[in-house]
Amino acid sequence: MDLGIRGKVALVTASSAGMGRNIANALAAEGANVVLFARSADKLQAVAAEIEDQHGVRALPVSGDMLSSEDVERLRASVQQAFGGLDILVLNTGRAPNPLRATLEETEEARWHEAYNNQLWSAIQVAKTLLPLMLGRGWGRVVAITSASVKSPMPHHALSTVFRAGMTAYVKHLANELGAQGITANCVAPALIDTSHRVGGAAYTPAQTEARKRLTPLGRMGAQEEVTGTVAFLASRQAGFITGSTVLVEGGMVGALI
Ligand SMILES: NC(=O)c1ccc[n+]([C@@H]2O[C@H](COP(=O)([O-])OP(=O)(O)OC[C@H]3O[C@@H](n4cnc5c(N)ncnc54)[C@H](OP(=O)(O)O)[C@@H]3O)[C@@H](O)[C@H]2O)c1
Repeated sequence: MDLGIRGKVALVTASSAGMGRNIANALAAEGANVVLFARSADKLQAVAAEIEDQHGVRALPVSGDMLSSEDVERLRASVQQAFGGLDILVLNTGRAPNPLRATLEETEEARWHEAYNNQLWSAIQVAKTLLPLMLGRGWGRVVAITSASVKSPMPHHALSTVFRAGMTAYVKHLANELGAQGITANCVAPALIDTSHRVGGAAYTPAQTEARKRLTPLGRMGAQEEVTGTVAFLASRQAGFITGSTVLVEGGMVGALI
């Protein structure tokens, strides 16, 4: 299926590694030019080179911090200068503070501020600064990476759930306000996705991973491509009548009927 995004311009935040990098690759494989944004300039350069080499599209690395308004403004100026506008915005972020704890044990104000900054404010700062580049083009896609915890809160995940829920609300407001511009806004809510590739090791021990596999009817962890494919679909022409929604990518872990 041709997703209809060949030649479009896609910005993927938090894309020097992990899911963000994989999402940028997936969009580039469909012919989109990609803008990469994260703090590690050297890693971003390598990801951009890999994408240009493998997919024959343009990949623009812009190094900076999603929490710095100056860096995000420089990102906006770079996208404007290189491409003149933006079609697809994927709001991926860094992770919640590690390790996660039981809710009543989350007593440190600094951890709550860190979680808010990493998972909510960072994405809002990018959205409010970059979305003006998407207006007036008659077409656009916003996809935010949240967590399945917004549908079914997972133990020890309060620091994530609280701010992912906030992001879900923000995206719903965007969907309502941007629809008339032909722009959709949706969330992809993953859980139990394999991160064993991660530099510094997976988020869970082998024993924890085995226990987590049993949380789903499928009895396994999710593959990165099962998240990236969902993001690419929501960015596609064919997903044009889906907006304000959250698509779970959690192997059926959430037990709700709808
Ligand atoms: N795996 C799952 O099952 C699952 C489930 C639910 C949600 N998620 C969420 O999915 C997201 C991606 O996960 P992941 O495993 O790919 O994480 P990861 O491997 O730790 O990668 C995080 C990325 O975020 C970038 N980053 C962090 N802080 C940043 C900042 N302030 N400004 C710019 N870039 C920043 C990092 O690059 P630099 O260090 O170069 O800046 C890196 O590229 C996370 O938010 C995670 O919580 C994952």
